[in-house]
Amino acid sequence: MIEIILLLIVSYLIGSIPFSLIIGKFFFNKDLRRHGSGNLGASNAFRILGKKAGIVILVLDLFKGTIPVLLGYWLAPEYFHVFLFGLAAAIGHVFSIFIKFQGGKAVATSGGAVLGFNPILFLVLLSAFLLTLKLTKYVSVASSVAAITFVIASLFLQDWLMIILSILVAILVITKHISNFKRIKAGTEHKIKFM
Ligand code: G3P
Repeated sequence: MIEIILLLIVSYLIGSIPFSLIIGKFFFNKDLRRHGSGNLGASNAFRILGKKAGIVILVLDLFKGTIPVLLGYWLAPEYFHVFLFGLAAAIGHVFSIFIKFQGGKAVATSGGAVLGFNPILFLVLLSAFLLTLKLTKYVSVASSVAAITFVIASLFLQDWLMIILSILVAILVITKHISNFKRIKAGTEHKIKFM
């Protein structure tokens, strides 16, 4: 049991590393919390810091979810559903202990956790994300649709623990996007220009 608790803490700490804030401050002298949507995530990094920094931050935020799940497979596969460690990382990303429990919206880190758990499921969610992005041009809507697709896919897989964990991820992602939905209603939400 103690190893599970330690692994959950390590996963949360990995998820808590605010890469977008660190890279923005060190390399661009910009605090993302004060620019664009104010979110500490890859989309705001793309928007404010540019494509290269956005890609680096996206990959690092993804890996924050993948590594805890792989550690779970390696160190504790027989005890719990390994996705639990990915969820701990996503919670760290949203409520980072290093920056007074601020953070991002759980999208990339949860996606990375799915990638570690089931790469085919990851491709399904990525497809739902990209298709919605192409149709709406809103990253926030694409992220929310991917989160809902995660729950639906878990229902199809009939993995009951996964269903519960995916519902928790979807609640986390969707509640963090309430400000985006309000901006969409007001017509002020940022639309992507490519695709
Ligand atoms: O990953 C978060 C994304 O879905 C929305 O980010 O910056 O547009 O609020 P943002």
